[in-house]
Amino acid sequence: MIPETFIQDLLNRIDIVNVIDKSVPLKKVGANYAACCPFHNEKSPSFTVSATKQFYHCFGCGAHGTAVGFLMEYHGLSFVEGIQELAKMAGMIVPQEERSTNSESYQAAKLTVVGLQESLQQATEYYKAELKQSQRAIDYLKGRGLSGKIAAKFQIGYAPAGWQNLQAIFRQYDNEVLTTAGLVITNEKGKRYDRFRDRIMFPIHDQKGQVIGFGGRVINPEDTPKYYNSPETPLFQKGHELYGLFLARRAIRDGGRALVVEGYMDVVALAQYDIHYAVAALGTATTPFHIAKLMRQTDEIVFCFDGDNAGRTAAWRAAMNALPALIDGLKLTFMFLPQGHDPDSYVREFGKENLEAEMKMATPLSAYIIDHLCEDNALQSQEDKVKFLNDAEPILHQMQAPRLSIMLRKRVSELAGVTGQELQDVMRLSSPNKPPTRASQKQLRTPQSIKKRFALSLLMKPSLANADDLTWLQGNAEEDYLVRNVLEIALQQPQSNPAVLLRGLENKIDERLLREVQRDLHMLDESLDIALEFNGARTQLRDMMQSGSSAILLNRANEKPISALTEHEREQLVNAVKKLKR
Ligand code: UTP
Ligand code: MN
Repeated sequence: MIPETFIQDLLNRIDIVNVIDKSVPLKKVGANYAACCPFHNEKSPSFTVSATKQFYHCFGCGAHGTAVGFLMEYHGLSFVEGIQELAKMAGMIVPQEERSTNSESYQAAKLTVVGLQESLQQATEYYKAELKQSQRAIDYLKGRGLSGKIAAKFQIGYAPAGWQNLQAIFRQYDNEVLTTAGLVITNEKGKRYDRFRDRIMFPIHDQKGQVIGFGGRVINPEDTPKYYNSPETPLFQKGHELYGLFLARRAIRDGGRALVVEGYMDVVALAQYDIHYAVAALGTATTPFHIAKLMRQTDEIVFCFDGDNAGRTAAWRAAMNALPALIDGLKLTFMFLPQGHDPDSYVREFGKENLEAEMKMATPLSAYIIDHLCEDNALQSQEDKVKFLNDAEPILHQMQAPRLSIMLRKRVSELAGVTGQELQDVMRLSSPNKPPTRASQKQLRTPQSIKKRFALSLLMKPSLANADDLTWLQGNAEEDYLVRNVLEIALQQPQSNPAVLLRGLENKIDERLLREVQRDLHMLDESLDIALEFNGARTQLRDMMQSGSSAILLNRANEKPISALTEHEREQLVNAVKKLKR
């Protein structure tokens, strides 16, 4: 374990600009440094690095983080490795902390995670070795056209038949870690046995290349289920992971697109046919997490589905799940393979060129949505058109990307025979000219966000903190905790940079609020006079807190008419206004 004080010291000493510049050459632009984003494909630079904030931030794909975060994301290092790397650059030696007794539970949790990773890794090696031993498994894979090279690349293995084979490699077969890792199952009678038996094993890797779970396919067609996956574990959440992403990352970035397919075998077969940018969701519909994850690598995603009914259902679900993640500039398309084909069989029969040609002609998301909405609707009668509008409404509400939104609204109103304004009125859509960022800027001017401005300016310049302020800061809202915690940490570390201070706030305040603060910090104009901002916010905040309930009441009076206040509230309000006038 590395002592926290060392980490803080290190992060205050290094300069993120130098760290990133080593891997991604930066150019000075105004107060910041900029480059084309290494986390998604782009032609003009939207990746910025701030020396004052010690953060990087991409306005294109939203990637952001600190110097360690960059090493982890870009070079695939673990946190500890990242710290070690930074220490090397700063010429510091990483000390090891004595194990303190009061952090026993922390140590135990850490040991479990390490134990999980190690046991999954050992199991992977074991299954790989077993594949070499089993002619039947080899024949099966050969029969499906897999080369040895590709099987090795994907670390494909074989779990032999039998109930407790893993005893051969795990001396403590009854260790809980094996159950938690999803390798061993305990039945009601307490008997333990291997989860995967007589199956072809596909290891699932996280983005750092560590095995976090498995998918196992039967060899015997009579066995069920055809595919069996690891259960959800502390390392493995199905809705978040994509099979093949670790191996595909480079190709996705280089080629500027990702292909999302349905099955393990599809990903593997495509790679054998030189299409290395394919990934698969793990037997679930694609989730917004999946899409967000891919958007960090590329701005073009092609979804490929089998031409059968199941494929169509899955495609629609993927489209609907994509809506909240959409941004302008992202290209999402849908392609459907001929009936009876999946990507595996298609690429074997028609080859890479044909598949890539099909991909170029895939249907864009908006066209796909319209096609789907019109599928069983003749759009002839008034009733048809009303149904069409009803079906379209929730979709239009979910779309946040302004330009995409305009296009889709236009098409919907044309088809329904109403004007754009009528559509907007009847569905109560917000004006597409006002993207959500405007709304949040407006919010910055509401009374509550004075607290945020106070916190943000202190994070930028902690030496401004004043211990007296602890006496009058009050309140139990999340933002009040934020303000007090920021003030405390600023008093403790008046010389730390924003990245270090933010790190100190982790686990102390609500995670969502913390992310908001982080985002606001990225957006904060560097040329602002921070001392001026801080003093302004501080004065306003103190006035607000000291007039206490009156501010809250004034707020409430803004929301509902005076007539809706209770007699008592009205009286209080009158007093409060008098007090404010004084
Ligand atoms: P498919 O049934 O389309 O199989 O499942 P496939 O990928 O073409 O596999 P092969 O070619 O018969 O070997 C697609 C995906 O759905 C999940 C798996 O992730 C699979 O890759 N699945 C399928 C399951 O999780 N369990 C099942 O029983 C079947
Ligand atoms: Mn298949």
